[in-house]
Amino acid sequence: MDISLKSASEIEKMRTAGALAAQVLEYIEPFVVPGVTTEELDDRMNDYIVNTEHAVSADLGYEGYPKATCISVNEVVCHGIPGPQHLHTGDIVNIDVTVLKDRYHGDTSKMYIVGGKTSIRNEQLVRCAQEGMYAAIRTVRPGANLTEVGEAIQKIADKYHFSIVRDYCGHGIGTGFHEDPQVLHYRNSNDLLLEEGMCFTIEPMINAGTWKVKVNKKNGWVVTTADHQPSAQWEHTLLVTSDGVEVLTLRKDEDFPRVIHNS
Ligand code: MF3
Ligand code: CO
Ligand code: CO
Repeated sequence: MDISLKSASEIEKMRTAGALAAQVLEYIEPFVVPGVTTEELDDRMNDYIVNTEHAVSADLGYEGYPKATCISVNEVVCHGIPGPQHLHTGDIVNIDVTVLKDRYHGDTSKMYIVGGKTSIRNEQLVRCAQEGMYAAIRTVRPGANLTEVGEAIQKIADKYHFSIVRDYCGHGIGTGFHEDPQVLHYRNSNDLLLEEGMCFTIEPMINAGTWKVKVNKKNGWVVTTADHQPSAQWEHTLLVTSDGVEVLTLRKDEDFPRVIHNS
């Protein structure tokens, strides 16, 4: 495994890319309303990334991916391709944005509840995925074992009686979109000791029913739950600091610290 440790100047670039990715999710929030199409949202975000942020989407053209963002609605787990589909009240929607600025990547996603209300089960699913991500972030510090990430999320998913997707994981990030290490979101023995200067994502996908997923055969991208029950995901890009963790993609709407000192 070849894990890059970021220098001070690289960390500055990661902070900038992370902030730009977070700002896209803040910017799009008022437009995520009943009736809008996911393609309209994607067009707006691409326009914002290019013309306001003077950056580019890392998704567009990545291994042939056709759009600037991923928009995953209800039973879509990840890699939802924006299109003519309209959003409806009660839909739960993940928007995942990866911005490339000055050669460095910032990768983040959040859940939106269309029309502000959904079923209690959907609300619990969205909350479980966010709680799991936050609990996992709190384990990150130099000397911590990467197994703690999966352990933290597993405990929360078990509490809610939901399942954790196993086929997709978090990843190192930097000049590469997906670098080493792989970050598993379920209980595992993939041990690796974290070091200051590592950057990686934590992005748990939580399913209401089975953890099993299927990839759309026609487009090769869109991942749905095998049982068509809903799925939720949140994602942050993180930096291991000298004594804890910094959330590089934190948004203003979050009630969570940007920097945690925990060693
Ligand atoms: N942003 C996704 C991730 O969290 C990857 C999307 S790749 C794309 O790793 F090609 F589908 F955009
Ligand atoms: Co990611
Ligand atoms: Co992402």
